[in-house]
Amino acid sequence: MTDDLYAVVGNPISHSKSPWIHSHFARQTDQAMEYTAIQAPLAGFEDTVTGFFDRGGKGLNVTVPFKEQAWKMARRRTPRAEKAGAANTLFLDSEGLLTADNTDGKGLVVDLTINSGFALTDRRVLILGAGGAVRGVLGPLLAEHPRALVIANRTPDKARSLAELFASEAGATELSGCGFDGIEGEFDLIINGTSASLQGDLPPISPSLVGPETRGYDMMYSHEVTPFNRWVLDQGGRLGTDGVGMLVEQAAESFAIWRGVHPETAPVIAALRSGAG
Ligand code: ATR
Repeated sequence: MTDDLYAVVGNPISHSKSPWIHSHFARQTDQAMEYTAIQAPLAGFEDTVTGFFDRGGKGLNVTVPFKEQAWKMARRRTPRAEKAGAANTLFLDSEGLLTADNTDGKGLVVDLTINSGFALTDRRVLILGAGGAVRGVLGPLLAEHPRALVIANRTPDKARSLAELFASEAGATELSGCGFDGIEGEFDLIINGTSASLQGDLPPISPSLVGPETRGYDMMYSHEVTPFNRWVLDQGGRLGTDGVGMLVEQAAESFAIWRGVHPETAPVIAALRSGAG
């Protein structure tokens, strides 16, 4: 019997750690599967996906810049994918219909609450950015019942729209959206969900938002302390974490959807932190 086939699709894709992570999970849980990386042409994502499943492929992860297209082309969506407006996981359901899920938010919440031991309940949380990455994690963050969740973005209207979109899931959480200069008070957690660091920038937020207990979380990852986490430290806050744990946890959640078994993530995170992958 040939191994079941999985892949991650993106453009570019050569930097992706997903093949390494999933191969590690497969060995650990004894699954007969192969996981590769596919670079889809920018105008050829749908054909790439259709071709992959036509050849008998079992599941795909989807990364930049195709997560919205994956969401759009799916015939079915899980409720969390529906709200996220983007999908990072595709598979065929029992009727053979292309189904989209989004495990990014679960990955972030597991990394924060379990790996870092940071309970979100009743905390004041600030999230910077209002693009696809932030939209994908708002539902799972709200499900942890923070006291406040403030979305702040360079383009304030996008932050306000996201706050409105998720108002029905806010429960007792004070959910609001604003620009970087409209944020008030100190926060327990500041999550950087912007792509500013790709241009070597930091979101221009006030140092007054950082207190001695404030920690940063950078959805980007790096072998060094990320510039954003360094900034939080320099303002007198605590050392935060980067997005390696989120990357591995979202992968584990996808793996569990496909294979019905949840791999252990701690050894994979530790290996990536020490330079493997
Ligand atoms: P992603 O899928 O990574 O979320 P995106 O949808 O393009 O990508 O969103 C990028 C986010 O980073 C946006 O919130 C963007 O702000 P705008 O909505 O104002 O464009 C934010 N961003 C990008 N470059 C930035 C910079 N140099 N400073 C601050 N925010 C930036």
